[in-house]
Amino acid sequence: MQNNFTTQNGISIPSVGLGTWQSAPQDAYNAVRWAIDAGYRHIDTAFAYGNEADVGRAIRDSGVAREQIFVTTKLPADVKDAEGAKRHFYQSLQNLGTDFIDLYLIHAPWPWAEIGKDCTDGNIVVWKEMIKFRQQGLAREIGVSNFRPDDIEPLLKETGVLPSVDQIRFFVGNMQLPVTNYCQSKGIVVEAYSPLATGGLLLNKQLSQIASRYGVSVAQVCIRYCLHKNTLPLPKSVNQARIEQNFRLDFDLSDEDVRALDGLEGTGPYRYLRS
Ligand code: A2P
Repeated sequence: MQNNFTTQNGISIPSVGLGTWQSAPQDAYNAVRWAIDAGYRHIDTAFAYGNEADVGRAIRDSGVAREQIFVTTKLPADVKDAEGAKRHFYQSLQNLGTDFIDLYLIHAPWPWAEIGKDCTDGNIVVWKEMIKFRQQGLAREIGVSNFRPDDIEPLLKETGVLPSVDQIRFFVGNMQLPVTNYCQSKGIVVEAYSPLATGGLLLNKQLSQIASRYGVSVAQVCIRYCLHKNTLPLPKSVNQARIEQNFRLDFDLSDEDVRALDGLEGTGPYRYLRS
């Protein structure tokens, strides 16, 4: 499986990325090596995951040129000042052992310890720094994560620059339609983190029935569904066989099955944090 999404600035993003949230450092190293061997060319990490150095080392050890691998990392959610944004960006470059980042995201609109807090002013401040990183060629693309339309609008109003990506928690039953529809109407690429609901969907009976009809796993159905919804899935695994499986997506869901999965909206194991 390897197609691409294209940002509003014409930057191409490989359409399935390896997620590394909750991957311990050595696990992240192995996972990235296996993923690249399996054909992945897109790896998602974050400063806050504590595994950037291992991700960077795995990319270097893979033998595949750095330029051929799309690397995303993120500014920690509690950093809402210009100095902090610069410091963390350069630290991420150093951790990853690279001189550019393909996609740099604001990890969340608020610190994780204060979900829902209005940090609009701080988000505008750090967004202006991100714009500079892109102008300097240090970040090829910039965007946000966990942002809703009312978090994004002030960025656009103050800077005239729309994020190119919003990475959100997106899976069968939890499409966050107000966010997804807003982003897609504006040309913002929606990336789906936790496309398996961090494992919460794997035992779902309806999904199992659909999966068995195609001779694939529930995980593969979940990932394929994201692509059907024009969102870019970032499945996380630290297991070689599962990493390989999550990239084998050469089957298509029927319209009827997509409709059945659409019908699960609102029943996802997790609701959006702020709803
Ligand atoms: P593991 O890392 O041991 O493979 P999400 O991507 O939604 O965050 O889900 C990640 C969770 O799903 C992890 O617990 C991961 O475990 C598990 N997982 C990932 N891929 C598969 C798969 N193909 N089959 C079963 N479990 C999977």
